[in-house]
Amino acid sequence: MADDLKRLDDLLAKYGQQHVLAHWGKLNAAQQRALKEQIGLADFSRLDEMHRAIAELKNPPRRDITPAPVVELDIPNFPYAPGREAAAAAKVGEDALLAGEVACLLVAGGQGTRLGFDGPKGCYPVMPLSGMTLFEVFARKLLRVGKVYGKTPPLYVMVSRQNEQATRAFFEKNKFFGLKDADVSFFAQGEMPALDTDGKLILEAPDRLFLGPDGHGGVLSALHKTGMLANMRKRGVAHISYFQVDNLQVPVADTAFLGLHITRRADVSLKVVRKTDPAERVGIFCLDHGKPSVVEYTEFSDEQSRQRAAGGRLAFWAGSIAVHAFSLAFLESLAGRGADLPLHAAFKKVPFIDATGRLVEPASPNAYKFERFVFDTLPLAKTVAALEVARDEQFLPLKNPDGPFGPEGVRNSYQRYWRAAAKLAWRLDPPAIEVDPLWCENAREFIALDPPPPRDASKPLRLPESNK
Ligand code: UD1
Repeated sequence: MADDLKRLDDLLAKYGQQHVLAHWGKLNAAQQRALKEQIGLADFSRLDEMHRAIAELKNPPRRDITPAPVVELDIPNFPYAPGREAAAAAKVGEDALLAGEVACLLVAGGQGTRLGFDGPKGCYPVMPLSGMTLFEVFARKLLRVGKVYGKTPPLYVMVSRQNEQATRAFFEKNKFFGLKDADVSFFAQGEMPALDTDGKLILEAPDRLFLGPDGHGGVLSALHKTGMLANMRKRGVAHISYFQVDNLQVPVADTAFLGLHITRRADVSLKVVRKTDPAERVGIFCLDHGKPSVVEYTEFSDEQSRQRAAGGRLAFWAGSIAVHAFSLAFLESLAGRGADLPLHAAFKKVPFIDATGRLVEPASPNAYKFERFVFDTLPLAKTVAALEVARDEQFLPLKNPDGPFGPEGVRNSYQRYWRAAAKLAWRLDPPAIEVDPLWCENAREFIALDPPPPRDASKPLRLPESNK
């Protein structure tokens, strides 16, 4: 072991990280092996990239931002109508679904720290009457696509080391919510270490470096490394519908959006909602030095956020809701180039062990964590298509323990949307409502389905009533 120790020490010395071995003498053989393995796996060449990301956080690069073109809603009032170009392309999206060319990609590797829920966020019982979980909602949305188009798109779920086991077990326990297990693939995203303010790697235990998920942008290399891109190609997939685990109202395979993406021959497409409050904390779709980009709200000055265009609306109104379509060929070409998306640093609280080996939970941020963002694919694309969607129809993220994006806030907004549909269809206002995602996707479809009025409109209503 003495040789081993010397080799490790030499390697770490090259990068100024010898403190990683500070507790070596107190470790048993298994712990030493574990730490040695972790060090062996660590890609120290990334330290430079991490330092660059910290430098950019402290001194953000100059941006040259202008508004970007978006296909806007045709009818901006409830129950809304998508922009004409997208509506006309919906048939192309339907054809892609009929041909089995669409896969759904759900990113669910986040730690959901803000929500404070003990478990993967997708296991959160979010629906107001049934208590259905987010994962089941998405599964039922997929089953609906299968019912309408004859083919259920395969589902690829990105998980992380922290939640992979719990996520798989939840799907298995629930028999994949009616999906075929062969149509559901889980794959784990990569991890990144954290650096303290002196540039030292953080140890979370005497025998273990801190490693956290590498951001939703980790999806690119994870899809490639785990063989999922090849798996999609083998299955005849050409287009990928991407969404986040937190968005209750997201359509999993929107034909107008997919149609627009395909007819424009876009590499990446995205959905945006109209920002009315300049202070809203969403990424903004815009051109940066002429290239389509999503720029985080933190990089916008107050003046830019408030800037008005002719007609009085916000100049930078297009808030990204983190819903994308990707062409498989584009992701393959990025993976083939071997280049990862850029790293972003964030200054966060990261528990660490002190010189005595005791775990310290810091009261304020103490270290830099690193993530990649999936929207950094935009500037790399030859063509990008952006579609405006109605906020209450398609964007209802569960993020926090309370407030508008907490469970109660989300359930209230959900009810408001679907009660508006009931009012339009029947002139009735049930006290509470829940719509089975397998039955109906949005208020326009609800009205087209023309369901019979409820037997008793004074009671909470679960639709379709035949479900009971
Ligand atoms: C994100 C976007 C923001 C957008 C908003 C819409 C960023 C930096 N910002 O904000 O522009 O307006 O969503 O809701 O992304 N995830 C992983 N692995 C990770 C980290 C995250 O799979 O390592 C997944 C999460 O499970 C979740 C999604 O990515 O599904 C979003 O992550 P989160 O960190 O909550 O994004 P936001 O900061 O809320």
